[in-house]
Amino acid sequence: MDKGPPANNLEQRKDRTEYARQTAQLQNQARNWNETIKHKRHKTTKTIDMEINKIYCESNLETMKRMPDGFVDYILTSPPYNINDSKYETYKDNLNDYFENQKKLIIEMLRVTKNHIFYNTQMVSGNKVDLHKLIGYFAENIKEVLIWNKTYGAPTMPGLFNSAFEYIIIFSNQNVNQRKFNDANWKQGTQNNVFKIVNSHSNPFSDVHKAIMPLDIPRYFMMNFGEENDIWYDPYMGTGTTAVASIEEKRNWIGSEISKKYVDLANKRLNTYLNQKTLF
Ligand SMILES: C[S@@+](CC[C@H](N)C(=O)[O-])C[C@H]1O[C@@H](n2cnc3c(N)ncnc32)[C@H](O)[C@@H]1O
Repeated sequence: MDKGPPANNLEQRKDRTEYARQTAQLQNQARNWNETIKHKRHKTTKTIDMEINKIYCESNLETMKRMPDGFVDYILTSPPYNINDSKYETYKDNLNDYFENQKKLIIEMLRVTKNHIFYNTQMVSGNKVDLHKLIGYFAENIKEVLIWNKTYGAPTMPGLFNSAFEYIIIFSNQNVNQRKFNDANWKQGTQNNVFKIVNSHSNPFSDVHKAIMPLDIPRYFMMNFGEENDIWYDPYMGTGTTAVASIEEKRNWIGSEISKKYVDLANKRLNTYLNQKTLF
């Protein structure tokens, strides 16, 4: 039975605050050990089979199933757009039930996140209706909608607008009736909800993966939200862009990626990146 989107009431928030406090303690341990964490809650001891700074080669729902409530500080992700184009290695991007698929994902992401989900998506013919249905369905969980101005939209066919912007929808566990963020790092009046980042198609992996996010996107949000050592989760990790940004911004990270080829590529990218960092 459809129970509707997660309620955002006071009781739930109190519960989440307590969870958040306990989880913060656990995360501190995890940062030191970077290995299996023992989780104590309600006088029971449960072992969480979860490492940080690792990409899990599996479906994101499998990874999140093992996370207790409020386990990560933030989620930043770019889901497949349902573009009806077999551009990925394993995943076929042509779901009939995109709405149901993304609804399940967002409910689970809201459960495992302490703060916000930065959900990057582009309107295409294959998701247009479902995407706007999702915005309506989760209206009580959306704190802000940002427009990423890509400065350029690749020319398409006659009668079709070139896509020069993407959405960053911010789903949140904070009070969504207020647009003010309690965990923002910017000074008054310095950030617009339309921001420009050039979408470069020339990166060293574009021959292997066709939908790579510019590194400046996750870096932008990490710089503007939270603090060092926070855990950022990307349920669609692809080539590891969120992980590279996390290292750059001194955050911890967890990823899920269904394709082994992309996990191998991301791990190689991370190793090269870490080696370069230690050289300079
Ligand atoms: C838009 S791409 C993400 C690209 C990534 N942001 C980057 O910069 O490389 C979406 C990725 O999600 C992966 N994927 C699709 N369904 C998935 C699932 N259920 N769980 C985990 N990964 C999935 C695809 O293989 C693809 O690599």
